[in-house]
Amino acid sequence: MQILGIDIGGSGIKGAPVEIDTGEMVTERFRIPTPNPADPNAVADVVRDIVKNFQWKGPIGCTFPAIVRRGVVESAANVDKSWIGTDGQKLIQKKTKCPTILLNDADAAGIAEMQFGAGRGNDGVVFMLTLGTGIGSAIFNKGVLLPNTELGHLEVRGKDAELRASDRTRQEKELDWAEWGERLNEYIARLEYLFSPDLFIIGGGVSKKSDKFLPYIRTVHAEIVTAQLLNDAGIVGAAMAASVLAG
Ligand code: BGC
Repeated sequence: MQILGIDIGGSGIKGAPVEIDTGEMVTERFRIPTPNPADPNAVADVVRDIVKNFQWKGPIGCTFPAIVRRGVVESAANVDKSWIGTDGQKLIQKKTKCPTILLNDADAAGIAEMQFGAGRGNDGVVFMLTLGTGIGSAIFNKGVLLPNTELGHLEVRGKDAELRASDRTRQEKELDWAEWGERLNEYIARLEYLFSPDLFIIGGGVSKKSDKFLPYIRTVHAEIVTAQLLNDAGIVGAAMAASVLAG
């Protein structure tokens, strides 16, 4: 079965039809830059354009970089504040005329990694962390997702963890890999102490450069690996989440 997956990010909105039985994208992804300001209407218009590009008629799964409960966006750390309280799922559904599921971006990436990537077959406690503009998190126990965990906002040294250890902070503060690695270690140690996961999966754009920072990362008990689906995880996971809509 094919479902259109769409990944709404801070700089681009990307989509592709996904064969959800294999986790493979059926075509090249199609990308449109995120509008500025990225208010709900403008973003939903872009999603509609992506749907049109593929002449898509069926269900769509869509990620969003914030808390999303039953389709309603409830936070806005790195997105336009006007999203708070917006039923993004309904809005996109109205604009595209396609049945839609909207979910948190890290949750979507985690769903894809658990089924087709680094978490495949793991029946313990798995933490997916996406390191990008912010830090996204998804927790799985025996393969079941606990949604909207928002561990990027755990406080470390009096600050949001994502302000200390996201990839954006690495770039803005021009941290070298060892310095950034130390910040990640402190964050990961806190997560290990609080939750005792079996496995961390590191995703987000920077996971492509794992050879640069993984050598600096230490854990106590947990295994730590990089994501396997890299940039496609959001699109694939969103499509998988929307399979509940397919008849
Ligand atoms: C948001 C999360 C999101 C993460 C990654 C954080 O700032 O609060 O909802 O998953 O960024 O985009």
